[in-house]
Amino acid sequence: MKALVLAGGAGTRLRPITHTSAKQLVPVANKAVLFYGLESLAEAGITDVGMIVGDTAAEIEEAVGDGSEFGLKVTYIPQDKPLGLAHAVLIARDYLGDDDFVMYLGDNFIVGGITGLVEEFRRNRPDAQILLTRVADPRAFGVAELDASGQVIGLEEKPDRPKSDLALVGVYLFTPVIHEAVRAIEPSWRGELEITHAIQHLIDTRADVRSTVIQGYWKDTGNVGDMLEVNRTVLEGLPRRIDGDVDDASETIGRVVVEAGARVVNSRIVGPVVIGSGTVVDNSYVGPFTSIAENCRITDSELEFSIVLRDSSILGVGRIEASLIGRHVEVTPAPSVPSAHRFVLGDHSKVQIHS
Ligand code: TTP
Repeated sequence: MKALVLAGGAGTRLRPITHTSAKQLVPVANKAVLFYGLESLAEAGITDVGMIVGDTAAEIEEAVGDGSEFGLKVTYIPQDKPLGLAHAVLIARDYLGDDDFVMYLGDNFIVGGITGLVEEFRRNRPDAQILLTRVADPRAFGVAELDASGQVIGLEEKPDRPKSDLALVGVYLFTPVIHEAVRAIEPSWRGELEITHAIQHLIDTRADVRSTVIQGYWKDTGNVGDMLEVNRTVLEGLPRRIDGDVDDASETIGRVVVEAGARVVNSRIVGPVVIGSGTVVDNSYVGPFTSIAENCRITDSELEFSIVLRDSSILGVGRIEASLIGRHVEVTPAPSVPSAHRFVLGDHSKVQIHS
């Protein structure tokens, strides 16, 4: 069994971060979201991974390499344009051959891995198996309709009137019959070959399409709010570890990770928090659910429920909350005063703040 990991796409919902970098590499608890997926594929006993890459191919290849760090053998499959999830299957035909495969969306996050699911698929080997989760408002998702026995009888993409509260999660298991289906469908109104249409085609041609409802946590990290939520969930499970320097004037409370080479000076850190190596937090407060990547500087500031990517500085700006800050960003003060700040800052941003 192989895997097809989708790490291309446009990432419009995460702009401006995705103007300059791949959304699958945005870190969650200081580790790229894509890496969690690769780890769960390896854990499920899969070694051969075809990785769909687009405009950000170079960056993805640099981060993942040949996959050996994850125990995987990664082959890159370039996609000229993000023409849809089913298009990714279409262009991976030669790589996939006649093997069964897991299709894994590189920006999706599933707590608890996929080992059980892959085992179930291997045991029963239906034509396709989809993963579902119950959501409060299914209108933003692909939605499945099931019959009484749990068989999938219909799929709809972002329906106005959903037939169930079961949303499609970004992991699919396919036998080679999917290749006929992706060839049979036409592009949707948005110009993409939709995987939901390909699966619907399977259903219409009486293929055996089954589903599993996952109990654990799942999120598509396509937008900032979801990204911060996933970060919060991962940090909640992180054990405390102080490998860097924390001076006597500082306090670290609860699940705090200070990586080797990081420094905390005259500051209060209330976990869960992770501070990457080479980062200096000085005369500041860092509050719950915050990840600060490598080589950052946080001085005379307060930061909570946020993600800061590497090489950024936040200097003397009061309080920042619920923010996603890119690489090489500088946030610095300017004269005079608003009382709260909220940001989505792209890589290389420079922001001046009254504080
Ligand atoms: P999406 O989040 O559905 O699409 P997107 O990346 O274009 O994002 P946005 O809606 O914000 O513009 O994609 C899911 C995953 O699949 C994501 O990791 C990107 C990847 N992908 C491809 O590799 N090729 C494609 O043609 C598409 C549509 C997505």
